[in-house]
Amino acid sequence: MSSDEESPISQAVYDQLATSYDDITTSAVREQYEWPAVQSLLPSLDGIHVLDAACGNGFYTERIVECGATAVGVDASPEMLSHAQERFADDDRVEVNQADLTDGLPCLEDDAFDLVLCQLALEHIEAWEAVFAGFNRILMPGGQVVVSTSHPVRDYIEAEYPVREQILAEEASYPEIEQVDRDWGDEDSECVVPFYRRPLAGMFDPALNNGFVVEQVVEPVVTDAFSEATPKFATVLRDGPPLFICVRYLKPR
Ligand SMILES: C[S@@+](CC[C@H](N)C(=O)[O-])C[C@H]1O[C@@H](n2cnc3c(N)ncnc32)[C@H](O)[C@@H]1O
Repeated sequence: MSSDEESPISQAVYDQLATSYDDITTSAVREQYEWPAVQSLLPSLDGIHVLDAACGNGFYTERIVECGATAVGVDASPEMLSHAQERFADDDRVEVNQADLTDGLPCLEDDAFDLVLCQLALEHIEAWEAVFAGFNRILMPGGQVVVSTSHPVRDYIEAEYPVREQILAEEASYPEIEQVDRDWGDEDSECVVPFYRRPLAGMFDPALNNGFVVEQVVEPVVTDAFSEATPKFATVLRDGPPLFICVRYLKPR
């Protein structure tokens, strides 16, 4: 990441969001919808070594080490990382480094981790092959990757038939990987976050091509707690495709 041209497309916006990012991590959509689905895919964390890939401000890295793991957090955004560094300043269970996942994680050793956790970051990355090649290299045989990312069916429908004002798309072509931005701002300010949508096979092929097998797929569900916290959103999500898809991949022994 030596120049702005080479920075990940979402870096500037996450630098901008870093100060208020815990409003997102503590929202109902994360805590009562996405996280329970991710948690259901996690192995026992006690005593294992975890890479939190695109750790953001370290909110979920902290969850992981609270369950007995040690962790390395990497992220491309210096501002998000500075919050993670602050969070773990006196905590030797966690090390934090700046890295672009598409560079193959040269700062990390081969076969060093039991688990990679990658929550809500791959949707900002166009090509996943190098990312999974890096995950494969740094995981020990028998290691796992747990990913949450945007759901390809909802992404396609929202891009092709944008009903929510925040989706900034003209039209979509299902088989393609396409940039579809979202505006997370309010009526006073714009905050355009760049995303990529992809077909369903795009969730799996980059991992399969890099030696992983798919162990389990979970789609988050609308619970009573989520409905109570955010009734309008829950109504939209109850009968339609989920916002996210969560997958556990295995590096075979
Ligand atoms: C929605 S946040 C998720 C952060 C954290 N995983 C969480 O669940 O709260 C997306 C994160 O992905 C990071 N990111 C995006 N593209 C990246 C890349 N190519 N390499 C490393 N981090 C990236 C962003 O900087 C941001 O911190």
